[in-house]
Amino acid sequence: MANGNGSSNGSNGHGPGVKVGQAMEKVDEKVRGSQAWTAIFRPGSVFRRGYTDSPRNRSYVIMNNVLYHLHPVKVKRHAVKVSYTLCLGGLSFFLFILLTVTGIFLMFFYRPTAAAAWPTVRTLETAVTFGSLVRNMHRWAAHLMVLTVFLHMSRVFYHGAYKAPREFNWVIGVILLTLTLLLSFTGYLLPWDQLALWAVTVGTNMMGYTPVFGSSVKYVLLGSKEISNETLLRWYVLHVLLLPFVIVIFMAVHFWRVRKDGGVSGPL
Ligand code: HEM
Repeated sequence: MANGNGSSNGSNGHGPGVKVGQAMEKVDEKVRGSQAWTAIFRPGSVFRRGYTDSPRNRSYVIMNNVLYHLHPVKVKRHAVKVSYTLCLGGLSFFLFILLTVTGIFLMFFYRPTAAAAWPTVRTLETAVTFGSLVRNMHRWAAHLMVLTVFLHMSRVFYHGAYKAPREFNWVIGVILLTLTLLLSFTGYLLPWDQLALWAVTVGTNMMGYTPVFGSSVKYVLLGSKEISNETLLRWYVLHVLLLPFVIVIFMAVHFWRVRKDGGVSGPL
């Protein structure tokens, strides 16, 4: 039926192109009508034929898409302007994702023992395909994230978004800033080079001056009386597991609160 001896058919408007188009539409309808498709994609979560532009359908598009639903269903016009937020919160989140992906790559090669740490980092730099590139992406993304989080906080402060009803989210933000700095600092130790050793020496000595609990805090951070294999393992677990786990939870609460506090702040 739909073979391609087209010119006579083409003249009455049913050329092979049209027929192929119709066949594709049928397949499309079948796939979108199937149980598997409708189980995965809720109405509005992807573009559907026959979509009519109504407030209800617009709400569906936002509510039923995993990425869009991070936004409130209604967004103030100024809030979607890049010039208002400079996307600094979004950039911080993007950098966190990049750090996670590049970090997983690094974990395939790095070994957290005093004897193996630096040699595995050197192997990464010199012998692993894309090793140097990925390691530097991880380092630069870490520096940048500290910068973007700080700038994001400054932007929030400048717009007075720390005031009610967003004061709780500001507090969550302060926790996120602390966690970002801790992630940065724990990562610094892992190459186990002179820079790392002395940074940890200074850091843990400072913690040793904590009133009352000083020596216990220092002992917990070092895993022994002085910097050793245990220190490296402890900070490695903090860096790749505990701190990322905690920061993800706080980020989820942070994003959820942005929505619940009525979306991004702005002029009344
Ligand atoms: C890991 C760090 C952080 C991430 C990923 C993050 C992410 C975001 C995102 C995506 C938004 C939506 C608007 C925007 O992009 O500006 C936002 C809003 C907000 N953030 Fe953060 N944030 C972080 C750290 C902080 C810090 C350190 C503070 C303050 C101490 C803070 C306080 C706030 C507040 C109050 C809002 C609401 C702003 C408004 O309504 O104008 N956040 N955050």
